[in-house]
Amino acid sequence: MIEYRNLRIALLGAGAVGAQVAALLLEHGDELAGRVGAGLELVGVAVRDLDAPRDPAIPKQLLTTDARSLILGADIVIELMGGIEPAREYLMLALNSGADVITANKALLATHGPELFEVAEQVGAQLYYEAAVGGAIPIIRPLRDSLAGDRVHRILGIVNGTTNYILDRMDVEGGTLDEALAAATELGYAEADPTADIEGIDAAQKAAILASLAFHTTVPLELVHREGISRVTHAQVVSARKAGFVVKLLAVCERIIDPETGIEGVSARVHPALVPVTHPLAAVHGANNAVFLEAEAAGSLMFYGAGAGGIQTASAVLGDVVSAARRHVIGGPGVAESTNANLPILPISSVVTRYQITLEVADRPGVLAQIATLFSEHGVSVEAVEQTPGSERADATATLVIGTHRAAEGALADTVAALGASEVVTAVTSVLRVEGAD
Ligand code: HSE
Repeated sequence: MIEYRNLRIALLGAGAVGAQVAALLLEHGDELAGRVGAGLELVGVAVRDLDAPRDPAIPKQLLTTDARSLILGADIVIELMGGIEPAREYLMLALNSGADVITANKALLATHGPELFEVAEQVGAQLYYEAAVGGAIPIIRPLRDSLAGDRVHRILGIVNGTTNYILDRMDVEGGTLDEALAAATELGYAEADPTADIEGIDAAQKAAILASLAFHTTVPLELVHREGISRVTHAQVVSARKAGFVVKLLAVCERIIDPETGIEGVSARVHPALVPVTHPLAAVHGANNAVFLEAEAAGSLMFYGAGAGGIQTASAVLGDVVSAARRHVIGGPGVAESTNANLPILPISSVVTRYQITLEVADRPGVLAQIATLFSEHGVSVEAVEQTPGSERADATATLVIGTHRAAEGALADTVAALGASEVVTAVTSVLRVEGAD
């Protein structure tokens, strides 16, 4: 058997994931070498500050602040620094120098993915990013390889652990969003600045990556419709549970046909949604992630597990290291990005979905008829109405929870606007889309 030289691995970043990747590479090096057919040598770890406190798993002699020299001497570069710059510049340097690249950087991929893939293809290098979506959960490779012969219709993903923890805690333990966020921060799920999680930015980046892969189409981050969870109230969570739903922040990626123009395209969106308690995604608790996927031939599949965490995410990174290293040994071209379908990205107004709307209305004769008329005027069919009665007073209000059949998003939004303007409606207290119910 021909002995292959050791492969030189450079690690950029020594945070929670980086430290675990270094530890696992050093600890399991021999076993991984057996799987690859070559030794895997961690030649250096680039950090910003040599003296910053860090995990003792990383030998001090491997640390360097000279990322560029480290990259230029490597066969495989693992980027775990996060952020756009200098990560983008370093990965370009790595690819242009012929190294394979592994990254967990969803923000970078969602904004500069096409540019990086183009260079990787030109130079015949590989760009792997299993850890960028869903932490430890294998979802990139299943979409890229296992399902490459199928047609994916829809993805419903819980891809942000912090918001899933918050919504789940509000459901199971009660309390406000702020209380649940404080608990998430204390447990180390939420960042000091939780904006990217709460406002759905992190989930939108992951949606862009998943939709691009699933539909063989470049999906720019700015075309992912995004609504975060900051306006979700405890009352909505309680009322959802009463009606047989849980509230989840979903990344929804769908192949759809615009109901007006007949144009087929891709919709990618992130928003809070009502999921039936019987749907597998309703059973995703705490900070876990899951991706529920519907494909033409495969049917429904669900991928579930830890969406974050140092050692869990390191597992996905190490899988990419083994794949990249094997190709070094065996040879062959890099993995090209598959964007051949190049479908148009359709706006949220092209989506056909269901709403559940909660209203405070005047409790007097004829009100229900007026509300029903508003729905019918906009071509929206009501599926169910539940009324909680008000008092016997003349100025009494009642709470109406109205579920709709599937209708065009534009018609639903217009209906909500008309309800808000109606003199019999005191307040529109909740508007949530229903997903996974059909
Ligand atoms: N902040 C993310 C989450 C983890 O809460 O799921 C990294 O993607």
